[in-house]
Amino acid sequence: MNARAILLAAGKGTRMKSARPKVLHELCGRPMLWYAIAALRDAGIEEIVVVTNEELDSHVRAMGIRTVIQSEQRGTGHAVQVALAALEPRREARILVTNGDMPLVRAQTLARVLAAGDRGEVALVTARMPLPSNFGRVVRFGHHVARIVEVRDASESERAIEEMNAGIYAFPESHLREVIARLRNDNAQGEYYLTDAIALFAESNRPASPVVSEDYEEVLGVNDRSDLARARAAMNRRICEQHMLAGVTIIDPATTYLEPELTIGADTVIYPGTTISLLSSIGARCAIGPHARISDARIGDDVTVRESVIVESEIGAGSTVGPFAHVRGHAVLVGENRVGNFVEIKNSRYERGAKSAHLSYLGDAEIGEESNIGAGTITCNYDGKKKHRTKIGRDVSIGSNTSIVAPRTIGDGALTGAGSVVTKDIEPGGRVAGNPARPLP
Ligand code: UD1
Ligand code: CA
Repeated sequence: MNARAILLAAGKGTRMKSARPKVLHELCGRPMLWYAIAALRDAGIEEIVVVTNEELDSHVRAMGIRTVIQSEQRGTGHAVQVALAALEPRREARILVTNGDMPLVRAQTLARVLAAGDRGEVALVTARMPLPSNFGRVVRFGHHVARIVEVRDASESERAIEEMNAGIYAFPESHLREVIARLRNDNAQGEYYLTDAIALFAESNRPASPVVSEDYEEVLGVNDRSDLARARAAMNRRICEQHMLAGVTIIDPATTYLEPELTIGADTVIYPGTTISLLSSIGARCAIGPHARISDARIGDDVTVRESVIVESEIGAGSTVGPFAHVRGHAVLVGENRVGNFVEIKNSRYERGAKSAHLSYLGDAEIGEESNIGAGTITCNYDGKKKHRTKIGRDVSIGSNTSIVAPRTIGDGALTGAGSVVTKDIEPGGRVAGNPARPLP
């Protein structure tokens, strides 16, 4: 596709009252700018240049996106001048200009304005909005746009216009280059307005075609933290909607917090108060929540996770976790495991069918198939300086309140009595009890 995009993001965003550049503020786990770029790519545009300021620039380049610095913010028209100066001219190309602070804009809307651009027209997205509004007003000339008036420069009757300029435009590149040099800054803000280009096009018999967005909320920019919260709610709803349409039951989308790029299988039910983030994947027929936090996790089919936290870990098919478990630090439950109330698992591997149902800490441990860890078991993995591993074989029965002082190996089929403090390795089939644990007669 012969289209390139200029994404405007050099504005200071002072209303965020933040040390962080505005377009880096996150909603649903991604910066605003991420959504703007994702929508451009989904609309088929690969060549993107972001107009940044000094603070923002390195962050955008770290995202792998080309940038150009606009050192002084002298208006949207000036920002486009700066970007065009940095792009090697391509006479046949179309240029899409949009803002970095509109995370809700859909790829379809960008594609519509580009399609109008394909016919060699200048096109811009407009939307009808309730008044009052700070958006620029669209002054029509029949089916075309004669000009755009900024609110601060508008007459009373122009302010009454309900069709707004969304700030998304498609231009034939060669014409844009001609017109952009002719902008002036004799307006209320003393800035070079990109919007003035529309009147210049109309004067040279190339009036812009409006592409009306049916959903004005998608073009509402984020200017302060209140806008950010509103955009987050809308984005979250949109992400939930995609999963619901793909067969996931979400009991209450308003209290289910999802990020983009998650995988969730059909017939999984997500209960309220659940947060799922960082490229996590969840299988089919799971029950997740209420009040689960799942981050950077891989969860198989038919898994139940009640009020629990799962971070950087894998839960195999048919397992049950919680309520109130914490699985973290590259833990792997292979499958058909049961991890219950108040159990913390860190960097440990549970083979098929291994269980720890109550009040335990398993850190740096391996637990063999079908072994049962009794309530109150602790792997004492830290000697004050180093972490040590615990290896537990298959079909082992660890009695309630056992402390295993690592490094330790416990053989297949072994047993510890309640309250054992295990300070020596246990042979396969061995039976021990006491503090320190000794072989039972
Ligand atoms: C602009 C439009 C207005 C439209 C509105 C939609 C102009 C003059 N007005 O107004 O018609 O209704 O967007 O949201 O274009 N930016 C730069 N460099 C600058 C100035 C701005 O990169 O020198 C960037 C900002 O970071 C922002 C975007 O351009 O992403 C829009 O700038 P902003 O100042 O918010 O324009 P508005 O006054 O909202
Ligand atoms: Ca704005």
